[in-house]
Amino acid sequence: MAKALKTKSKASPSTPQPPRIAIAIMAAGKGTRLKSKHPKVLHEIGGKPILAHVIATAKQIVPAQDIFAIIGHEAERVREAVAGTGVNFVLQAEQRGTGHALMVAREALSGNGNRTRYDQVIVLSGDAPLITAETIKKLSAFHTLQKAAMTLLSADLDNPYGYGRVIRKRARGGAEVQAIVEEKSATPQQKKIREINSGFYVFAAPALYEHIDRLSTKNAHGEYYLTDMAEIFQRVRQKVVVMKTSDAGEVLGTNTRAEMMVLDARLRMAKCRALLEEGVTIYYPHTCVIDSDVEVGADTVIEPFVQLLGKTKIGADCRIRSYSVIGNSTLADRVIIKPGTIMEASRVDAGAVLGPYTHMRPGSEIGEGAHLGNFVETKKIKMGKGSKANHLTYLGDAEIGEAVNIGAGTITCNYDGVTKHKTVIEDRAFIGSDSTLVAPIKIGRDSYVAAASCITEDVPEDALALGRARQSVKEGWARARRDAQKDQHR
Ligand code: UD1
Ligand code: CA
Repeated sequence: MAKALKTKSKASPSTPQPPRIAIAIMAAGKGTRLKSKHPKVLHEIGGKPILAHVIATAKQIVPAQDIFAIIGHEAERVREAVAGTGVNFVLQAEQRGTGHALMVAREALSGNGNRTRYDQVIVLSGDAPLITAETIKKLSAFHTLQKAAMTLLSADLDNPYGYGRVIRKRARGGAEVQAIVEEKSATPQQKKIREINSGFYVFAAPALYEHIDRLSTKNAHGEYYLTDMAEIFQRVRQKVVVMKTSDAGEVLGTNTRAEMMVLDARLRMAKCRALLEEGVTIYYPHTCVIDSDVEVGADTVIEPFVQLLGKTKIGADCRIRSYSVIGNSTLADRVIIKPGTIMEASRVDAGAVLGPYTHMRPGSEIGEGAHLGNFVETKKIKMGKGSKANHLTYLGDAEIGEAVNIGAGTITCNYDGVTKHKTVIEDRAFIGSDSTLVAPIKIGRDSYVAAASCITEDVPEDALALGRARQSVKEGWARARRDAQKDQHR
């Protein structure tokens, strides 16, 4: 008994410590093949910059403080776009290849002197956003198990053109790798290899930085290729192994616009599948554009050709009808959005009904059960519970109370050419059709504004305001005119 205990206490200090892991994301390249003025990693798929996807995956593996984004082309723009993620940045001012990117990150990843900060460096490509944390974790565990200096992730592609090919030591069996050959340097025989280098690696940090200076630019591109580390490790008799992913879709890159659109479609279909799984009905999901961060509650129905963008949150039991585009907005439960509604940075409370063809511009807040109808435009307004503006109306910079009725064609004249002014409409006020409310103005509660009024002075509560020319009727005028015209033609 005592012996057993002793053995146990001895064993615990020798239990292997989990490796200290850093993740380097290579994101300094220009993306020449996109023919774009924007850096490749800032192009969006699934509604988010490509690099943001890779960072989000990296954060599922290690905390932001251990993630290093290597940036270079348009570095400031890239930094700004993803600064909120909390990752570190390493500047690769001149982009001399993927190997050079890791050379530049030497100090950040290995520390200076002989104290290494990390055991493992996981290298991700900033332009391959579909990779999952599970696969990377498997790759890292495989690397540890194999006691390798370099472990790469590979995939079998039907069309391997353009990718680096994996040359295994033994054709059959065995994970050990002889070399990675880039498309440009490959022999016709090597070009037939369908196993490609995904551009995701795990390195033993000390080994990487002991040997990285052996890289040279003697290759087809005149660049420092990180892929050449495979051969370099061979020469110094260190182990290089490969793990093949069963899901080749995970490693696809975004070197061309066509590739980018394939990935975008994949991501959006995956998003739709996740929402269907959570109880959302989506008709013809391939026609919908739903960004990755969008949330939708159960039993909400999304009709064909709907776009839900940015940080939009939609409650349960809503219906979003066709051709609506909703960005960065929050909808509570049981909201009905009729066709062709456009909404940006707005909020809608439970049971409200919007559209068809309602345009809600930023800062519109619509209360419970309220209605906004055909061709109603709103901007920066608060509308209370149960209020209605159903037809052909512009409401801007307005505070509207509860149970207010806004007649067809009402306009808040909020802009005098220099500044914006506010309109206040209190509870239960009734605004007749075709009224113009010249702000700043206040319409008191329970009051009436007569149709076609131009209101320039405040209306007290319980009053009726008329602001239009008095009607005059000329009896027989039309008949007299017709008779006169007949005489002329005789
Ligand atoms: C690379 C691999 C190739 C692999 C493919 C997988 C090399 C030499 N080749 O080729 O074997 O099949 O990825 O997608 O590595 N970058 C920098 N700094 C640089 C150069 C590139 O940060 O100086 C970044 C790029 O922004 C990009 C990533 O590294 O995010 C990969 O570079 P890219 O030029 O796209 O390499 P590929 O030609 O795709
Ligand atoms: Ca690439």
